[in-house]
Amino acid sequence: MKHFINLKDIKTKDLRNIILDAKKRKNYRRKLNTLEVDKGSPLKGKLLIQMFEKSSLRTRLSFYLAIKQLGGGTITLRSNELHLGQGSESIADTAKILSTYGDGFMLRTDDDNKLEKFKKYLSIPVINGLSPSSHPTQVLSDIFTVEEIKKKSISNLNICWIGDSNNVLNSLIAASVKLSFNLRIGCPKKFQPNLEVINWVKKNKRKINIYNDPVKAAYNADVIFSDKVISLNDKVNKKKKLIEFKKFKINKKLFSHAKKDCIFLHCLPRGNEVTDEIFLGKRSCVWLQALNRVHVQKSILLYCFGKLG
Ligand code: CP
Ligand code: NVA
Repeated sequence: MKHFINLKDIKTKDLRNIILDAKKRKNYRRKLNTLEVDKGSPLKGKLLIQMFEKSSLRTRLSFYLAIKQLGGGTITLRSNELHLGQGSESIADTAKILSTYGDGFMLRTDDDNKLEKFKKYLSIPVINGLSPSSHPTQVLSDIFTVEEIKKKSISNLNICWIGDSNNVLNSLIAASVKLSFNLRIGCPKKFQPNLEVINWVKKNKRKINIYNDPVKAAYNADVIFSDKVISLNDKVNKKKKLIEFKKFKINKKLFSHAKKDCIFLHCLPRGNEVTDEIFLGKRSCVWLQALNRVHVQKSILLYCFGKLG
């Protein structure tokens, strides 16, 4: 049984196997309809329980499609509808019950400790569907999208992130270490990745480049990533933070410092961090990026269930 909580804890070989499997499955499905099941129905009879403590559109739907296309099923819970969410049942007991009824558990949480506690008490795999510190399923899928479009390994590309040092960036940093790619980050000094993250990168003998000037970060980029300035877990002065990010808005002028064929990616939902011209423009691949979550999460599920090739 394998969990999928943080990219840092997953072997590079396994991350590469997940991407490879997703590529094969996506190719194979080209002629299949949305709910048709993959050959061999590899997760036939399996139930994925999804629980959301925070809003979600893409993660919820993409996991629904992912497990269905593998022959299994899913049920989606809101934590506030459970005794757990009311504070009247423990994580330990909840986890025992989830393990009794289900085969896998996907959790979107507002507290990283909950993932660790569930991991301790569950006897089924747990998948992190976004926490304050990381968003691993999103980022692994984004690596898949980059390699699909660019038709080369991400380790041969210049990847740029312009935006807040949030959960998505933390996972991108973890991926840059695991998959050895060049990452340039553009953000205001006050919102740089924290010391713990930087020290982990150093410990792993890698380097990330941080610039407080978005032009320097975007220079020569093959891919520019961004995300909302205000994340779901943000408890900051929102108005003030938005002002501090003003010069980091991604627009045509900033994009002109990247390579001519640079693409734009964004996990969605979006705020004001990017202009419509870029977000809806010809360099943007955000819709394909969202769709690919289905394909990659299928292979993540297979990895967790011990069924990856
Ligand atoms: N990108 C992403 O995780 O979207 P949702 O919050 O809608 O699931
Ligand atoms: N950083 C964003 C990602 C949303 C998918 C958030 O945590 O709200």
